[in-house]
Amino acid sequence: MNYETIIRENQQWIDEIWDKLDEKLSYTALRSYDKIPYTTCEGIHDSCTEGEKITWWTNGFWGGLMWLMYAGTGKECYKATAQKAEETMDEAFKYMNDLHHDVGFMWHIMSGASYQLTGDEKSMNRNLLAAQILMGRYNIDGDFLVAWNGADKAGWTIIDTMMNLPLLYWASRETGDGRFEKIAKRHADMAMYGHVRADGSVAHIVSHYTDKPEVIETLAGQGYGVGSSWSRGVSWAVYGFVLSYIHTGEEKYLETAKKVAHYFIANTATTKWLPLVDFRAPKEPICYDSTAGAITACGLIEIAKYVPENEKAFYLSAAIDMLRTLERMWCNWEKSEDSILQNGTERYGSRPMPIIYGDYYFAEAILKLKGSEFLPW
Ligand code: GLY
Repeated sequence: MNYETIIRENQQWIDEIWDKLDEKLSYTALRSYDKIPYTTCEGIHDSCTEGEKITWWTNGFWGGLMWLMYAGTGKECYKATAQKAEETMDEAFKYMNDLHHDVGFMWHIMSGASYQLTGDEKSMNRNLLAAQILMGRYNIDGDFLVAWNGADKAGWTIIDTMMNLPLLYWASRETGDGRFEKIAKRHADMAMYGHVRADGSVAHIVSHYTDKPEVIETLAGQGYGVGSSWSRGVSWAVYGFVLSYIHTGEEKYLETAKKVAHYFIANTATTKWLPLVDFRAPKEPICYDSTAGAITACGLIEIAKYVPENEKAFYLSAAIDMLRTLERMWCNWEKSEDSILQNGTERYGSRPMPIIYGDYYFAEAILKLKGSEFLPW
């Protein structure tokens, strides 16, 4: 079956889910107008707007989700809430010591999206500032972007950074300064050998020497332990590497995205498309992470666009199977409650909860299936 046939066969479901997203989010956009939500408390969005919470790494997803919905509907309520979130986030630039590699998650899908959709110069300025912060994290001798702050973590990289690299690719295009892209590619090359294992699984944290380009060891991160396989880390790699391919045209990144995708698909197919938090954890307790499914689905849909005709069905069908399962099992369409995708998990051992990026990636995946060309990354 080809790409178009698969879309056609699922069109009714895709349209139905998009309408449900719009119906619920046009309501939530008003109710959470001045919030920057992370999760919910008794069904209602919390807000990360106070004090240092403003630097929380997920704070771009709410504005980003609003821009996605604006891109798909053109409704003013989404634009207004997105712009409010973006202005609120200006406060975060006052806490430079707390900002880290996640400035891509925090600004690129919000200010970058705003600039792409509206041409707002203030948004461009914010995004460029974020790109400069990210570029400033490059370790010249070690040849990587340092993830977090603190002398004890000066040599640490994490797979999540792959999702922040599109900010650098964008900055090179925007400014004509090739250094942003060069650094992004150097980091992606490091992640290909440092984080991605031969079987397509991924190490969350890698510790490097800071004075030479050499890995010391891999460390346990948000998964079960050293050598295990945190599913959201695998998702960051699937989507992150295909994005590096889209922005650079370098085949090695597409091949890496495919390899990691095969690993994710093989593992989730054995649990009926519900991603475990860690693919290499003890059998009990069983713990899932819906966000890993939504992120990976976005990556798979992008991979399907770039592989040869006879490979497309494999990636697209897996993405749709995952999304249909997430929707059937864990989507909450109740308008009196603010979150949509339930059963996200922050890290191995933490309680299941709705997390804002679950809603973001689920909506992004459905928007892609609707045929939108809008790529916020
Ligand atoms: N980037 C941190 C996480 O995925 O939880």
